[in-house]
Amino acid sequence: MPITLITGANKGIGFETARQLTELGHVVYIGARDAERGEKAAAALGARFVQLDVTDDASVTSALATIDSAEGRLDVLVNNAGVLGAGVTDGPTALRAFDTNAVGVVRVTEAALPLLRKSPNPTVVTVSSSAGSFWAVTNPDRPEFNLPLALYSASKSAATMLTVQYAKSQPGIKFNAVEPGTTATDMTAAFGIGRAPEESAKVVVHLATLDADGPTGTFQDENGELPW
Ligand SMILES: NC(=O)c1ccc[n+]([C@@H]2O[C@H](COP(=O)([O-])OP(=O)(O)OC[C@H]3O[C@@H](n4cnc5c(N)ncnc54)[C@H](OP(=O)(O)O)[C@@H]3O)[C@@H](O)[C@H]2O)c1
Repeated sequence: MPITLITGANKGIGFETARQLTELGHVVYIGARDAERGEKAAAALGARFVQLDVTDDASVTSALATIDSAEGRLDVLVNNAGVLGAGVTDGPTALRAFDTNAVGVVRVTEAALPLLRKSPNPTVVTVSSSAGSFWAVTNPDRPEFNLPLALYSASKSAATMLTVQYAKSQPGIKFNAVEPGTTATDMTAAFGIGRAPEESAKVVVHLATLDADGPTGTFQDENGELPW
């Protein structure tokens, strides 16, 4: 059974991804920064909870140590935790957006690499966004063209670039970034847009369950590869 860690899995797309991978037989670790929310989500799915705040090095190290002790390896990592960083555009808000959406990917991936190397088919999926695609935000025909989310977009560009760089530096591990599709979650509640998280989680699950010869270094949505 694949051993899987999903960050920010106590709700939204991460929670639904956890549900679907659990149904496929994965041993899923729900990474959540809040113990009460994480334990509740894990109990609802028959999954395991691990305390994990992607902005806190000690928390990330401890979470991966817990998985190491219990499982001795990690097969799938889903970097899903994210924040919108909307509102004011200033230094503190920028630091928070980048700390969660980009630096968080580095923290968790670096801590996970030794465990991923022990897997026969290691896969990392980073839930990025087409809001971070230069192609999309400069294309007037795309909805991202009118999206006034500079910090979110820039931090997701970084998350996608990290995916490409990890794919190059870690050829034994698949790294892919995903645009899950506009989804009705707490993140988008203020806009009142998006489809059910169940639908978007399918896109994440697809990339989390690739065969050993599957693609690496790509940025995809449900229709396949997206331009950068
Ligand atoms: N919704 C969309 O339309 C959409 C589109 C493209 C990409 N995405 C991406 O999809 C991912 C999931 O978003 P969502 O829509 O499901 O939003 P959501 O419902 O707000 O879920 C975000 C999750 O991230 C967690 N999180 C935030 N900061 C964290 C931290 N420092 N450490 C650990 N966990 C943290 C949250 O935990 P708490 O409950 O503790 O806050 C929550 O579990 C994000 O990366 C988002 O950027 C979403």
